[in-house]
Amino acid sequence: MTSMDCFEKQSIVVNSELTPTIEVTRGQVLEVTVFNELPTDWPQVTEGITVHWHGLDMRGAEFYDGVAYLHQCPITPGTNFTYRFTVDETPGTYWWHGHAGVERVDGFYGPLIIRPNGTEALAYDEERTLLVSDNFHGEANAMTFGLNRPFDATKQTNASGGWVWVDLPQSVLFNNRGMFADCGMGPYGNAKPIACKPAAQWVPPGRSEAQPWAAPTNKGCARYNLTVEAGKTYRLRVINTGSLAYQTLCFEGHNLTIVAADGYPTKPLVVSCLDINLGQRYDVLLKANQAPGNYWLTARPQFRPGSAAGYGVLRYSGANASALPASPAPQPDTLAPWTLAQLNQVRLSADLLGASANRSLAAHLGPNGLSPPGAAARVLLLNNTQPLLSSGQLRWALNNVATYKTPSCQPTLNQIKAQPQYLDQHARVSAEKYVNYDMLQTGNSSEPMVYMADSATPQAEPVAGQQFVTVGGGDVIDVIIQNMPANANGGDYRPGVGNNRTAMEQHPFHFHGHHFWVLGHGTGRWNASAAAGYNLLDPSFRDSYTVFKDGWIAIRFRADNPGLWNLHCHIDYHLFMGQKVYFLEEAGLISQPPPDFPACPATCTYNFAAWAPGTVKQMFGSSGYPARR
Ligand code: C2O
Repeated sequence: MTSMDCFEKQSIVVNSELTPTIEVTRGQVLEVTVFNELPTDWPQVTEGITVHWHGLDMRGAEFYDGVAYLHQCPITPGTNFTYRFTVDETPGTYWWHGHAGVERVDGFYGPLIIRPNGTEALAYDEERTLLVSDNFHGEANAMTFGLNRPFDATKQTNASGGWVWVDLPQSVLFNNRGMFADCGMGPYGNAKPIACKPAAQWVPPGRSEAQPWAAPTNKGCARYNLTVEAGKTYRLRVINTGSLAYQTLCFEGHNLTIVAADGYPTKPLVVSCLDINLGQRYDVLLKANQAPGNYWLTARPQFRPGSAAGYGVLRYSGANASALPASPAPQPDTLAPWTLAQLNQVRLSADLLGASANRSLAAHLGPNGLSPPGAAARVLLLNNTQPLLSSGQLRWALNNVATYKTPSCQPTLNQIKAQPQYLDQHARVSAEKYVNYDMLQTGNSSEPMVYMADSATPQAEPVAGQQFVTVGGGDVIDVIIQNMPANANGGDYRPGVGNNRTAMEQHPFHFHGHHFWVLGHGTGRWNASAAAGYNLLDPSFRDSYTVFKDGWIAIRFRADNPGLWNLHCHIDYHLFMGQKVYFLEEAGLISQPPPDFPACPATCTYNFAAWAPGTVKQMFGSSGYPARR
C-alpha cells in the first residue's frame, strides 16, 4: 500500500522502494535481474512484466529493449530474468519502465542516470532528480477494461457496457508526493480556487471521499519539498513519468536554464516555466538566488481542463519547514503551454556534447558538425486518426492500422526471424512505397499522399493488426506524423454513430532504438513545401516529442541500428488502443536472441479483444470495472 497523494492504493515497488534510481557509468555493462514477486491474482501482473530502457539506443542489444511480445515474453510471477547490455549512450537522464501492459501506471518505473566515464562537462553544485507524474486512483489494468469495450456514441455509460475513457488524473505528484484533488489552492492563499472536475476527485466505490485519504492532515502523506541552500546551483533531472498529462512546471520566482533534453546537451536556454510531455526529460539548472524562504512549485496538466494540479514547495534550508509559501498559491490553470516558436529554441549543443557523443550520434554527424544527415530520399507520412473499427472498438491508428493485436504468444521479433513471410501477412509499409521530396516538389509523384498496408493502394478502412515499416542500409529516413480528425480516413462505420467525431488531441510520440532530429513542426497539414522551412543546422535531437493538436512533426533518423523498434504515443491508454507502428531495421543483421529468455506462457490474453464483463469475471474473479461517473 502506498498513499502518495493521501489516498491509499496498491503500487508496484522494487526492493521495497517506489521508483528506485539505476545509475550506470557509460561503457559499463548494466546487469539488472528482475524477480517478479508480484502476486498472481492481481490483474496487473497475471501476464507478467518487462523492463524497457527509455531513451537508450540498445545498439547491439536489440533483444533487451523490453517490449513484451515484441522482443520477449513477459517475466511471469515467480520467475526472474536478467537484462544485460553495455551502456554506450550519451551520459544524461533516462528512465526505465515496465512495457508489458500498463504496469507503469501502477508505479513500475524509475530514473536511469548515465554518468560520464570522464569528467562532467556541466558546472553545478548539486543535483536532484524530479519525477513529475499524474496519478490515478484506479488500478491501471482495470482502467483499460473500459477502453476495450465497444464504442457507442449514444450509450457511453458504465451500465450500458460501452467504452469508458480513463478521464482525468486525481492528482499530480512530485517524486511520488502530492495531495489528492489539488486544483486551486484557495484555502492557502488569497486566490480564488479553481474547481476540479468530479473525475479528478474520484475515489473507487466503497471508499470515503473525505477521511482519511483526502485529508491534508493524513500523516501518511505530505507535499513534496525540494530543499536547497541559498547560493547554490542545482542540476534538476526532470522526467515526466505520468501516463496522460503534458505538464507545465514552474518554480515561483526562479527561472530555469535548460541544459539537456532527452539525455543530450542543449544550448543553454532560460525559461520561466518548463513544459515537459510524457517520456521526455529535461535537465535544468536552478539557481537558489532569491531571498531564503518558501516558494511554490507547481505542475499544471495542459490540454486537460479541470485536471488536478501539482503543488509542492521549493524550500531554502533554514526556512520554516512546516509552513507553505506566504504568497498566494499560483493558479496554474492560467498558464499557456509553450508555443512552437518557444519549443524551437531547444537546440542541440555541439560544445557541451563534446567527446561524449555516442556511437549513434557520431553516425548522425553531418557536414556541419551536429547537423542532421542530409538528403533524405525517403519520406514516410503517418496519418494519425482515432477510428471506430467495424468490431465496434474505438482505436488509435496510423495510416488506418491500429497496432494492438499479437497473433500468438511468441515474440514478434522471433517470428520474423524464423519466417520472413510473416511480414507479408501483416500490414506493412515497404521501401518502394516511400516518396521523395523531389518527386513531391516537382509534382511528379504518382503516389497518393497516404502510404499504408501491403498493397499498392492505401488501406481504405481502418483495421486492427500489426503494422511494420521496413528500413535499413543506413538510409536517411524522414517520418511525418500528421494529426488528423478522429474520423478521417473513413474511420467511422456505423451510420449516425461517431461520424461527427472530428476531435484531435496532442500526442507525445516516442521512438525506441533512436534519437531523431526534429526537422520541423507546424499546424494544419504538412506538405512537401514545408521541407523548405526545416532546421537542418541544429535541430533538437530527441526520443520523445509532441505532435500537437491540429499539427504535424517531421523527424529524421538514419536506419543503421538493427532491431524492431516501436514508434508510439507515450500516453499509456493510447498505446493500449493501438497508437504505434513497428520499424523493422536492418533485419538481416539482427542477432539471435540470447538463450535464457523468458519462456512464453501457453496462453496470452493481453489486450487481444474487447473484454466483456463476463471475461473479466472469469479471468479476475470480479467484474473489475472501475465505476466511473
Ligand atoms: Cu517509454 Cu515504448 O516507451
